[in-house]
Amino acid sequence: MRYQDTGELHRDFHLSTNGTISYVLEKYGEDFLRELFRRTAQFVYKDIYQHLKQGDTGALLEHWNYYFHREGGDFSLTEDADGITFHVKKCPAASYIIQREGKVPETFFLQVTLLNEGWSENTPFSIETQILGDTEYIMTVRRNTKVDELDKGFDVALQGEFARQAAQRVRDTVNSWGLKLPDVEPLVLDFGLGEFEKTGEVEFWIANENEAGYCGKFLFVFPGQTCPRHMHKEKLETFFIVKGKVLMCHDGREFVMAKGDVLRVETGTLHSFTGIEPTLLLEVSRPSFIEDNFFENVKIPIGGNYKP
Ligand SMILES: [Fe+2]
Repeated sequence: MRYQDTGELHRDFHLSTNGTISYVLEKYGEDFLRELFRRTAQFVYKDIYQHLKQGDTGALLEHWNYYFHREGGDFSLTEDADGITFHVKKCPAASYIIQREGKVPETFFLQVTLLNEGWSENTPFSIETQILGDTEYIMTVRRNTKVDELDKGFDVALQGEFARQAAQRVRDTVNSWGLKLPDVEPLVLDFGLGEFEKTGEVEFWIANENEAGYCGKFLFVFPGQTCPRHMHKEKLETFFIVKGKVLMCHDGREFVMAKGDVLRVETGTLHSFTGIEPTLLLEVSRPSFIEDNFFENVKIPIGGNYKP
């Protein structure tokens, strides 16, 4: 669906939206409202969201242009190397609410912020919303670079001497097999639980092409080390065991996977694996977004299940 109405304007729609937001906030809270607008952005405005996912802002800009033109809003659109800045100097909806009700509650603009959050989720873009006044706001659309997600990974990875030594142990092991890992900086992960030997893995990312739509990583686990149970809503992934042996848990089943084995992991299915031997896996998948990791253990301070 798009906003493509023609004919008579029904500005009272803005009053009912305003009333609905206040009601939902009061009765169900902000998380519920966030989910409501996330679904609106991704399912009601599916066409816009699909274009964004494919790296195309055209449908979103067309939507904004159409809406603000039709409703007589005052706005400017600038595009430069940094991205797109859509400056709404006079929001027609907010102006109408002020005209009818005297003022516009701050919470009214949550719809702009939350819709933009929903539209940018798991796309190559981030959309920042700055509310400047009663009827004024700026929306800035920037393209994420492919290193962003890896940078986020480094934010939660182990650092320093311990990480360096762990990575070296992995490289030494793989070299002893006559193989060579890519010359990238690895992510040494303990998933925030502080017991790397028990819960952890080392990742070597060779590609994470958000726009082109593919990702490739080598994952390494030591014997007894587990990549904890999680699922992805977006990332469909396939594992290939390059060398070693793991106990794989996938979708409620447990089985051993060894060198040469392949497993396709559907979105929404829980999976974890534990090294039986030192094991190197190749993971090929859709693009990887840190927020698209949903760990069963909600104490893991990473991804979509974590609530700080
Ligand atoms: Fe996974």
